[in-house]
Amino acid sequence: MIVLGIESTAHTFGVGIVTDEKENFVLADERVQYVPRTGGIHPREASRLFAEKGPEAIARALRSAGLTMKEVDAVAVALGPGMGPCLRVGATIARCLATYFGKPLVPVNHAVAHVEIGLKVTGARDPVTVYLSGGNTAILAFVDRRYRVFGETLDIALGNLLDTFAREVGLGPPYVVQGMHVVDRCAEKGRRFIKELPYVVRGQDVAFSGLLTAALRLARSGRYDLEDLCLTLREIAYNSVIEIAARCLMHTGKKEVMLVGGVAASPILRSKFEEMARVYGVELFVVPPRYAGDNGVMIAWTGLLAYRCGITIDVRRAIVRQRWRIDEVEIPWR
Ligand code: FE2
Repeated sequence: MIVLGIESTAHTFGVGIVTDEKENFVLADERVQYVPRTGGIHPREASRLFAEKGPEAIARALRSAGLTMKEVDAVAVALGPGMGPCLRVGATIARCLATYFGKPLVPVNHAVAHVEIGLKVTGARDPVTVYLSGGNTAILAFVDRRYRVFGETLDIALGNLLDTFAREVGLGPPYVVQGMHVVDRCAEKGRRFIKELPYVVRGQDVAFSGLLTAALRLARSGRYDLEDLCLTLREIAYNSVIEIAARCLMHTGKKEVMLVGGVAASPILRSKFEEMARVYGVELFVVPPRYAGDNGVMIAWTGLLAYRCGITIDVRRAIVRQRWRIDEVEIPWR
């Protein structure tokens, strides 16, 4: 079976082609990356880039896999969650491909895809998943046919916290230099923990926007070294995520922890989770950098799992869902 998947929820237009054969399941992995000139993602600008470069990326993916659309069994597409204008480009292209070539269309939830590609490439079987990216912070575990949310951010995501702080104090963009976030790098020279910054765990959840506001206020006051602020910010942010992940581990009794999403590549966060895994006697899995960020392969792979269970969607009903939660999705393949 061969499935072509399209990702376009935020800054990446990705096209992946995968097969269910055991060896070398990735046949193609093409990406078009939107990089904002200033500030954060501008959804309309990103969507314009996707509309312009997306079709070429699909042609490149088919060429590099040595396939034509005739040999593709199904088209999978991330219908959400994500930014409306970006999502609509991927959905439109996927509907066109499915209609024109007479292929089944498979709806994929972007967050489910991060988990599934993590399971596929790390070999984890039934982990507590820590999903961290620019737009998401969630602690997930598979219970009763769904990936349930055991904790999440109530406002902004961990990646957003780090990027916004870096941008406002003049450390970025770029936010990641040689695999390390600029806030992590700056924190390495920090010496002192600043007590004025708030701890951010709220019950099972975290909330980062108050921490961001407080950190920026202190940075602008000029009373503190930026290095100390970065150190304190990242310690609070990372430790709060570890705290809610640990609670999920205790509650579910699972024996594995898996890090997925763009922020999973952080070596500092990884070393903290290594320590946590040692303390709790569980095994740690980290998705490799190639599949940590958004990509088409994870959509194609999840599409393949779903299609094998007979999940497809009528082209006329395949509309985007900007706030499609992971715990709304039934997972019949597990
Ligand atoms: Fe993502």
